[in-house]
Amino acid sequence: MIQKYVFGNPIATNAVVTEIKPTQEPIPFFTTDGNGTFTYSLSEEDIVYGLGEQIRGINKRGWQYVSWNYDNPNHHEDTRSLYGSHNFILIRGTKTFGAFFDYAGKMEFDIGYTKRNLMQIKAAKNDLTVYIITGENEKDIVKQFRKIIGKSYIPPLWAFGYGQSRWGYKTEQDIRDVAKQYKDAGVPLDSIYLDIDYMERYKDFTVDETRFPDLKGLAADMKEQGIHLVPIIDAGVKIEDGYPVYEEGVQKNYFCKNAEGGDFVGAVWPGRVHFPDFLQPETRDWFGKKYAVLTEMGIDGFWNDMNEPAIFYTEDRLEDTCNKIKELTSGNMGIDEYFTFTGMVAGLNGNIGDYDKFYHNIDGQMVKHSEVHNLYGMNMTRSAFEALQEIRPEQRTLFFSRSSYVGAHRYGGIWQGDNKSWWSHILQSMQQLPALNMAGFLFTGCDTGGFGCDTTEDLMLRWLQYSLFTPLFRNHSADGTRQQELYQFDNFAATGEMIKIRYSLVPYLYSEFLKAALQDNMMFRPLAFDFPEDKMAQQVEDQLLLGDELMIAPIYHQNAQGRYVYLPEEMMLVRMKSHDHYETEILPQGHHYVAAALDELVFFIRNQKAIPFAAPAESTAKTDWNSVQLLGYAGASYELYTDDGISSNPESTLKISTLS
Ligand code: GLC
Repeated sequence: MIQKYVFGNPIATNAVVTEIKPTQEPIPFFTTDGNGTFTYSLSEEDIVYGLGEQIRGINKRGWQYVSWNYDNPNHHEDTRSLYGSHNFILIRGTKTFGAFFDYAGKMEFDIGYTKRNLMQIKAAKNDLTVYIITGENEKDIVKQFRKIIGKSYIPPLWAFGYGQSRWGYKTEQDIRDVAKQYKDAGVPLDSIYLDIDYMERYKDFTVDETRFPDLKGLAADMKEQGIHLVPIIDAGVKIEDGYPVYEEGVQKNYFCKNAEGGDFVGAVWPGRVHFPDFLQPETRDWFGKKYAVLTEMGIDGFWNDMNEPAIFYTEDRLEDTCNKIKELTSGNMGIDEYFTFTGMVAGLNGNIGDYDKFYHNIDGQMVKHSEVHNLYGMNMTRSAFEALQEIRPEQRTLFFSRSSYVGAHRYGGIWQGDNKSWWSHILQSMQQLPALNMAGFLFTGCDTGGFGCDTTEDLMLRWLQYSLFTPLFRNHSADGTRQQELYQFDNFAATGEMIKIRYSLVPYLYSEFLKAALQDNMMFRPLAFDFPEDKMAQQVEDQLLLGDELMIAPIYHQNAQGRYVYLPEEMMLVRMKSHDHYETEILPQGHHYVAAALDELVFFIRNQKAIPFAAPAESTAKTDWNSVQLLGYAGASYELYTDDGISSNPESTLKISTLS
């Protein structure tokens, strides 16, 4: 059952798409001060799940989280905000229920941080809608929530292939080299990403003619090899006379305004930019149609970036900072002056005060950006999605974004933002997966190998062994870091095998993805969702159920030659060095130490289940569906969901077959 409670005068977020009549009853479970704060007493056994893309564990107890979409490439345990805001929580314990705090501005979730047994949720203003969901169990509660927020985006099948990316590919030749290296080694590849350097001075919808003289030709050549090019689009529009996107935007009032009514200026990669006011339908329509510049060149996938929006600095803050620095550096900088100096410089990027300086036009009303901040990225994604449905009505377009809010899952996927080549960031990504699935984000994954910092071969191998299970499977790294295309490492044979195993798993992953999307289910679940009475399962933070057949338990420690795993039921351990070189072993319910050499993938097939497993293909388009065989318990059958992998309405070509 879902009850809707309206407080004050909320701004529409478009997160919930089902009409629900608000109730006048007082909100259950929580006490509220009428000022945007909701308090709940946690019992010792309560577990709090949810919050989507956030740091720390699957069980969110013990920290304070802030929903405020934020560009934070240096996130760690201390962080409070990441790129997306997904205000759905599920409490399991004395009482079990879900709660969605639909609010477009800043929200705090103190989940036993200030006081261990108290949860305090606070909206910046008492203008929000809260949905309380009760049901039979965790899965049922999530399903009900997913139903009211609308169906999840389904990408084309090729998006399930392996993707190679790097911020640093600067020329057409760089792209051709990447393709060749993988081809020569016989390692499958479905996509190569174009980061900001394909553009002419970081201007959206332009292509640098010296470095990419014939993008259309390049895209066609790549397509012939089964490789799709996926360019980036950034939120900020460069201010430059003669640049049509800028000039049209100014002329038609498509940009966010400052307090004086002029176009607001911030700075990102191109220097000074204006931010399209994606909350206006006209702006969305205008900006979205620009993607045609690239689709006309044969492009069929995009990633949207810097759409929190990230702001490196605003001009007035920069000026104040520079003046202050002059003053400070003219004397002897003591400790106080030194900290003022470093604090001011560090505080230029993403300064929360800058988000009070601009406005959106919502139905003729000027609304301060900070009040709708968390909706910005979602509306940029919506802009592209809706326009692409007109531009390419027959086919699905690969689409994912960095910033998001609940509801954005209908328009595209998300990647988990800038991570680091740290062992702990494998675990961090894994712990976000079920929470993201709860909020509808099924097409997701992290920068495999780590974006910032230098990766190592062993980290890459272990990372692949995790990421090869995630729908979005992309190796991406930052400019200036160690090159991490798989052929940069000695043991390309082993990393290449992991990619081939991914391709063998595509029928299973795609099928489970379709089921989750079409039936509003979670593809990745904490163990306790399927074994609710198992006290041990409730505590497991580093294993996940994947679909109804698999359990994954990745290794995320340096030099580990294996790991402890908890099996909530009897399962089949699969130990795999390559798609055709593997061993299986039945392990009873309980705790086990599972050895796994560095080049060995381990995963588990659930009791009496089996998964479809194909011969690896060069690209997803070449998957030989006739080669699919069952891997798992003898006598088990599997319900395979397939479609043509490309039609815009996946249900129109959906095929369900039983494999046995
Ligand atoms: C941002 C993105 C990252 C990209 C970089 C340059 O940091 O998150 O993925 O490579 O910008 O465009």
